[in-house]
Amino acid sequence: MTTPGLDPFGSEHSTAGADLLVADLNDPIILGRLAALAAKRGVSLVRIADLGEPSDAQPPIAIVVDIGSPGAIDRIGTWCRRWPSTLVAGSISFPDQERWHGALAAGASLVASRGAFVAQLERALEARSGGRGRDAAITRLPVRLMLREGDGLVGRLPDAPGGSIVVMRVAGRLHAIRDECPHAGASLADGTLDGPIITCPRHGSQFDVTTGARERGPSDFPIRTYRVASGEDGVFVEVPT
Ligand code: FES
Repeated sequence: MTTPGLDPFGSEHSTAGADLLVADLNDPIILGRLAALAAKRGVSLVRIADLGEPSDAQPPIAIVVDIGSPGAIDRIGTWCRRWPSTLVAGSISFPDQERWHGALAAGASLVASRGAFVAQLERALEARSGGRGRDAAITRLPVRLMLREGDGLVGRLPDAPGGSIVVMRVAGRLHAIRDECPHAGASLADGTLDGPIITCPRHGSQFDVTTGARERGPSDFPIRTYRVASGEDGVFVEVPT
């Protein structure tokens, strides 16, 4: 087992072809536990700075991030869009509800306090196809669309993995978003939609449902979006499982 305080990454590590557990945090206690977890699972623990450019065909199995670090929420959104099958998990070392909601709304599959973080990460990896993110699947969740004309809410997936998702129609196109305001967790389905902009019913934050971008605070963070697929067999929202 790696001793906290020593370099948990080792002096040399080859990541070519390996399953990667990527650390975007500096907490030595967590890094020591991650090193032990990586050894147990036979994957390579690498720093985010050493990640390079992994191919889209072999995304990291997981990226772990200190959500209290500057720009963490934006990075979570970027990774979730690029590698939807990667388990993105956030550790937080102080109570901050907005960052907690922000990380989940940006697409993190898991947010946990520092002390419980690695144990919860291990359980989440176990739950994913034997713990191998490479094998993690994108699940297509069928949506039964409401019969209504024009723009607005047309579908709900309250039991989607990771949290409720709603489907909005904007200018004839369907867009799926996580139904949780990053500011304090209000349901965005209860908000008002004007063009692509949804206004949170609780404190008025605004988001673009076509991109997830935050347009107005008090939320500091964007919302998670999901791909919607339509075909002869129906309408589906694609979510990582
Ligand atoms: S909960 Fe949405 S703006 Fe506060």
